[in-house]
Amino acid sequence: MTVTLHTLQEMKGKGEKFVCITAYDALFTTLFCKSGVEVILVGDSLGMVLQGHDSTIPVTMEDMLYHMACVKRGNQGALLIADLPFMSYASESQTLENAARLMRAGANMVKLEGGAWIAESTRQLTERGIPVCAHMGLTPQSVNRLGGFRVQGRNPQQASHLIEEALMLEEYGANLLLLECIPSSLAKTISKKLSIPVIGIGAGKHVDGQIMVMHDVLGISPITPKFVKNFLNESDKGIPGAIENYVSAVKSGEFPAAEHSYD
Ligand code: KIV
Repeated sequence: MTVTLHTLQEMKGKGEKFVCITAYDALFTTLFCKSGVEVILVGDSLGMVLQGHDSTIPVTMEDMLYHMACVKRGNQGALLIADLPFMSYASESQTLENAARLMRAGANMVKLEGGAWIAESTRQLTERGIPVCAHMGLTPQSVNRLGGFRVQGRNPQQASHLIEEALMLEEYGANLLLLECIPSSLAKTISKKLSIPVIGIGAGKHVDGQIMVMHDVLGISPITPKFVKNFLNESDKGIPGAIENYVSAVKSGEFPAAEHSYD
């Protein structure tokens, strides 16, 4: 089955959870597809989990294009999202050109981090046929401005600002919204207000889909924030079993539990 934006929109309508995970190569991509994952993100997290940097900031367009092409070769029907890396969408012409390069390498949609300031780019990209996933809350490319990898939207002003920006991005044509590290009650409000599907990571269970970095699912990341669960620990079938467990835990609503959420 080929997963499209339409599939995700229908799943949101029916209240069915969808599963997302990051991938950076062909064989893991194939395994994830066979395990029932609907969405695969070629994330700039590759800067941390593959390249060993302490942030996503050093990741280049060339890095993204290489891994995007690898994932494309292993794909068996998942919707493929590619991150636009740090400073690759700082100006309008750069945004259009770099998004087009990722689409040519096999992406079905691009992801940009930001709020109101990415609204115009979102409009320009979607009008030209490039679907957009907007990434809000903890936006790792802004780690220096945020003062670390911290939970966002905890105070009422920040929370209403996030709600306003999410609504604005939907109005400007965003097709998906990804919320990272925000209180689960705020993520619930946003996903109820928006008609587009909302994906969460550290955003609690009241969103339409969940995403995790594959190395976190397999318990091999050196840092384990609260929202991470090691699914390999409970697997009696190795890595394939861990991915099956992750998929079924998201679909059943068992993951994320309260212990993996902020409030
Ligand atoms: O780059 C990435 O892997 C991401 C996830 C943390 C959602 O953006």
